[in-house]
Amino acid sequence: MDILIVGSGGREHAIAEAVRKSPAAGRIYCAPGNAGIGLIAECVPIGAMEFDKLVDFSKEKGIGLVIVGMDDPLVGGLVDEFEKAGIPAFGPRKNAAILEGSKAFSKDLMKKYGIPTAAYETFDNAGEALSYLETAPYPIVLKADGLALGKGVLICNTFEEAKDGVDEIMTKKKFGDAGNRLVIEEFMTGREVSVLSFTDGKTILPMTSAQDHKRAGDGDTGLNTGGMGTFSPSPFYTKEIDEFCREKIFQPTVDAMRKEGREFKGVIFFGLMLTKDGPKVLEYNARFGDPEAQVVLPRMKNDLLEVAKACIDGTLDRVDLQFEDNAAVCVVLASDGYPVSYEKGFPISGLERFDEAEGYYCFHAGTKKAGDKIVTNGGRVLGITAKGATLKEARANAYKATEWVEFENKYMRHDIGKAIDEA
Ligand code: AMP
Ligand code: GLY
Repeated sequence: MDILIVGSGGREHAIAEAVRKSPAAGRIYCAPGNAGIGLIAECVPIGAMEFDKLVDFSKEKGIGLVIVGMDDPLVGGLVDEFEKAGIPAFGPRKNAAILEGSKAFSKDLMKKYGIPTAAYETFDNAGEALSYLETAPYPIVLKADGLALGKGVLICNTFEEAKDGVDEIMTKKKFGDAGNRLVIEEFMTGREVSVLSFTDGKTILPMTSAQDHKRAGDGDTGLNTGGMGTFSPSPFYTKEIDEFCREKIFQPTVDAMRKEGREFKGVIFFGLMLTKDGPKVLEYNARFGDPEAQVVLPRMKNDLLEVAKACIDGTLDRVDLQFEDNAAVCVVLASDGYPVSYEKGFPISGLERFDEAEGYYCFHAGTKKAGDKIVTNGGRVLGITAKGATLKEARANAYKATEWVEFENKYMRHDIGKAIDEA
């Protein structure tokens, strides 16, 4: 069966790597892909939002399964377009991807079905949001309703900060229409954990847990980024917490979506905060996380294509999802200056040192081919993943492997997975 993967980041590289291991995989295409994906799949110069071209290409090539990695095309309804053309596609339809596409929708869903999350109010109007903020408790959290490249969440310590936030999001429309509505949410404290899960709309199978590091600098300082590194599993996600989440969060979410006539098939990513009052949902995503996929998929024992097919066919109850009893750490190598401004086009050396069989992976994010070289082409350039018997070993291995690769302006955090020392 020939496969098309839609997307171009480290997550899509990890998906391609997992697909490649499947005996059922024929040719693997990726649109638009990147230089690293191009080493194991055929990159196709079609953008993730060019729905007609993606469908035409898939018809022409007789694609047997499409895997959509990114949020924008899912929220925009790409899976529906493939379905209309009779091509199986892994991921939620538009009416289900709204779980990620609208924070107001997801908050209302959680409230209606009693799924634990932070208290909130929704506003369509900047004036009303401001009067609410005048007497609200601080810190407080502002969230643009729609997709905002992971940057639509502001934690405000004072009314002044919140006022500026409302101005940026709702008045100046920094994130475009994503800021037409604003969710104002109670500030929660605790450890964060990401749990990705497969679902066919009825059955939900959680994958192993992971934790991301969103801030740019060591010690969780600096600006929010797409993610600077991950580790898996999270030692803070205990068996008791897992049982609670399965019963009170995971299954209720899938059931709620079905009851709303929005059956969700694909990956639900639960962003959780482990508060002193128990686990609560910070956010839902409708896809694999990036860079969570880079530590979760390399540890998965199952054939990704089989699991994806079971989600589409509604037979996930027959799948026994299993992960290796080890750990993985991913350290993102970025271009200095990310996420604000950075240079591109520097040649990358050392890429050939990585051997998956030894538990080392170099997932490409912002790279491209320039002649016979591979050069930097984005803020997040590579995700260096290593496995180990324990998290500490995986972390030591990952940091060792970050030294194998060189490019000008290489930047990374030095404390990915450091939190595990406290576990
Ligand atoms: P999100 O895009 O919803 O995951 O938000 C980005 C980050 O903002 C999360 O990973 C948290 O660190 C933080 N955050 C979001 N909502 C809250 C909240 N209610 N309380 C505290 N921190 C939050
Ligand atoms: N790593 C967070 C995300 O993929 O949204």
